Amino acid sequence: MSDGKLITFEGIEGCGKTTQLRLLARHLEDRSLAVVTTREPGGTPLGERVRDLLLDPRFGPVAVSELFLLEAARSQVVAEVIRPGLDAGAYVLSDRFADSSVAYQAGARGIDRAAVERLNTLACAGVVPDRTLVFDLDVELALARARYRPSTTADNRRFEDEAIGFHRAVAAAYHDLARREPHRVVLVDARGTAEEVHARAVAAVGDLIP
Ligand code: TYD
Repeated sequence: MSDGKLITFEGIEGCGKTTQLRLLARHLEDRSLAVVTTREPGGTPLGERVRDLLLDPRFGPVAVSELFLLEAARSQVVAEVIRPGLDAGAYVLSDRFADSSVAYQAGARGIDRAAVERLNTLACAGVVPDRTLVFDLDVELALARARYRPSTTADNRRFEDEAIGFHRAVAAAYHDLARREPHRVVLVDARGTAEEVHARAVAAVGDLIP
């Protein structure tokens, strides 16, 4: 069955990954390839409700509650969107996936990494990204972008409001992932124009595209 490809987009807040996902989706569609796009947390009706709970500063989930909410949304999007997309032979592009939990919940919140990986394995049900692009940008610059973009509002800024040290820990965890899994996880220099970064992203998935 599964001859689709899963490409995941990762990085700190404000790194530009969402723009890059749209550009890569268009690049693939222009080549008449089937594309499914999704995001985490979210991507399903259940996951989008969970997303609202996770991003709203009025709810203060402790670290482990946060992790369980994320994994609940993740297992749903795998079952409803990602696995069916791969089985249909599509390129599935996900704005964040399991590596976000390794970077944020283990790397920055301090939950034991092995525990996070076990829950990821359970939620992902055998799905592993074919390539993970980590958009790498200076933490101060990325955070300034994220905090002041119009889509960041009072009821969805819980992560944007974390201190700079939190975001540095997330960035360090992504660098560590790229060192540990160099064939899957690729750091993409996210400086420059969207088009410049897009060219780097296309190069980083070149071997996956006919
Ligand atoms: P996202 O919509 O990608 O936010 P942004 O565009 O600002 O980067 O993700 C929402 C937030 O959820 C983001 O701040 C990171 C957090 N998150 C985790 O902490 N762990 C996870 O596993 C996932 C998927 C997201």
